[in-house]
Amino acid sequence: VQAKTEEFAATLPAGVYGEKVLSVKHYTDHLFSFTMTRPDGFRFRSGEFAMIGLMVGGKPVYRAYSIASPSWAEELEFFSIKVPDGPLTQHLQKIEVGDIILMRKKPTGTLVLDALTPAKRLYMFSTGTGIAPFASLIREPETYEKFDEVILTHTCREVAELQYGLDLVKEIRSDELLSELVGDKLTHYASVTREPYEHTGRITDLIASGKLFEDLGLPPLNPETDRGMICGSAEMLKDTKALLEAAGMDEGANNKPSDFVIERAFVG
Ligand code: A2P
Repeated sequence: VQAKTEEFAATLPAGVYGEKVLSVKHYTDHLFSFTMTRPDGFRFRSGEFAMIGLMVGGKPVYRAYSIASPSWAEELEFFSIKVPDGPLTQHLQKIEVGDIILMRKKPTGTLVLDALTPAKRLYMFSTGTGIAPFASLIREPETYEKFDEVILTHTCREVAELQYGLDLVKEIRSDELLSELVGDKLTHYASVTREPYEHTGRITDLIASGKLFEDLGLPPLNPETDRGMICGSAEMLKDTKALLEAAGMDEGANNKPSDFVIERAFVG
């Protein structure tokens, strides 16, 4: 395997890392996560994404993937959907430990703490694999230095799709260092839209009706105290953004920090 890896490394295009898969976990027919080695010198901010790829028929195929592990972690973690005819994911879903993943060297993204001005509370709104950048940020010490309360909402069609997030939060709470870091600042609010569950409904409906805030025991969105990050499908971003703007919140960016930031959950 070593010889094969070195041989492969020699064929890598400039500006691309070749990293070894360390673990793969399948959650449903449509969702899986994996970890891979982190290249020496690869730096990123929690919440950013990178271009991940595989050689397919002799050519590299890349897609944008949020890095789900925090900036301090030794390994890189990703959470992906499986699309039967997805140019990358139809192959990526078959990866095994020891396989080589391509990664372009420059991470980027708007779901970073630097893009938000300070406030009391941070809401992270996610649907589906849109939870990935928040998996990184809820394990980032800076998140808890900057905010007193962190609310992660995750909405999926079915209960089984919530498992990645449920496992992650459980892991944080049972980890000695992370649980101390997070304390009681983190709230995980999970809902589904196509099955019965403790909480049901789209996050947009839960915000609009006030049910989310009632369930959390918190006041409605307020630009004085609240900040937001949104990650989901294009439609979900549009609808959630409209609700935050209706609450008087302004969209920010890396070079213009403000009240909320958005990023598409990538697919394909
Ligand atoms: P629904 O089941 O009502 O479509 P998807 O897999 O289609 O991206 O959906 C993931 C989750 O996001 C589902 O629970 C889905 O609810 C929800 N969703 C889809 N579109 C929107 C939207 N425009 N605003 C808020 N939530 C949405």
